[in-house]
Amino acid sequence: MTDTFSYPVTRVAQSRISQVDFDNLRFGAAFADHMFVIDYKDGQWGQGEIMPYGPWTFDPSMAALHYGQAIFEGLKAYKTPQGNVQIFRPQANFERFNESAKRMSMPVVPEEIFMSGLSQLIKVDENWVPSQKGSSLYIRPFMVSTDEFLGVRIAETYRFAIICSPVGQYYSEPLKVKVERTFSRVAEGGSGNAKAAGNYAAAMYPTKLAQDAGFHQLLWTDAATHSFIEESGTMNVMFLIDDTVVTPAVGGTILKGVTRNSVLVLAKDRGMKVDERRVSVEEIVSAAKDGRLKEAFGAGTAATIAPISVIHCDGVDYHLPPIETRTFAPSILKELTEIRTGETADRFGWMVQV
Ligand code: COI
Repeated sequence: MTDTFSYPVTRVAQSRISQVDFDNLRFGAAFADHMFVIDYKDGQWGQGEIMPYGPWTFDPSMAALHYGQAIFEGLKAYKTPQGNVQIFRPQANFERFNESAKRMSMPVVPEEIFMSGLSQLIKVDENWVPSQKGSSLYIRPFMVSTDEFLGVRIAETYRFAIICSPVGQYYSEPLKVKVERTFSRVAEGGSGNAKAAGNYAAAMYPTKLAQDAGFHQLLWTDAATHSFIEESGTMNVMFLIDDTVVTPAVGGTILKGVTRNSVLVLAKDRGMKVDERRVSVEEIVSAAKDGRLKEAFGAGTAATIAPISVIHCDGVDYHLPPIETRTFAPSILKELTEIRTGETADRFGWMVQV
């Protein structure tokens, strides 16, 4: 990774790394020693810096807290067996971040700021990239509006920051998901394809209802008819029907997942049939009944590939084939993991060395 800018670095007096149990990482619970921070005002980005991770003070009227101009990304850095650090597809996350920024009327972050901040931060905190199998350093770039003003308007000041968290598996068991027929995550014309904080806030209540009823996650459906599948929880969703990989086409209501795209590239590379289109609930239920639904799984940065064991729809549990008998998702996960850790050749140019 080439650094266009060299940011000033203030290092921690004492690293917190010895307090972290790298063999038992909870997602997003521990944070690396440093963070990258840069502020925007008067129509331009100021001087970025890398500083010790820690709390910020803010005015209670800070715009993001009231009107939700807040966006984020998620990407991961991996350690190779030789101890080198590499980041998975940062360009894709950078591009999506700025698509989210535009949708939320926030300033775009120039590529050289995003990439230089990212690579310098990961270099400073490279000891925080876990080498344990299945673990990685989750990187969270985000931006919030910082105006101290209660009028509803597009803010004039913003903060862009990057923080990092060493993580293991997001889900510890196969998922039971419930087809959501009442609530909506987003609607056509809304901000569903932006990684905007508010999308996640709106999903919490229906997700809690499903979790109280014994499910891990929801299978979101379209807001207009609740009959077409969109995403599962915080992930894109994929199905193996007979020998075809079927997944909802991305558009205004579905996030353009980087893991989703990577799975499809690997599947096509194996010569498999890949079908990106509208996917009806009815089709999935009848494929499950007929035994043609071989696999279902979520795909996302945090979750990577999360197998689905049960789809609950309109009061009925559809049990999918046992996880141990599945071949597609586990082998894709293996290949993806090996590309990320450098154990398999990076044929698609996805990995960026730090
Ligand atoms: C990610 O996979 O990066 C996500 O967006 C999930 C996150 C909200 C935990």
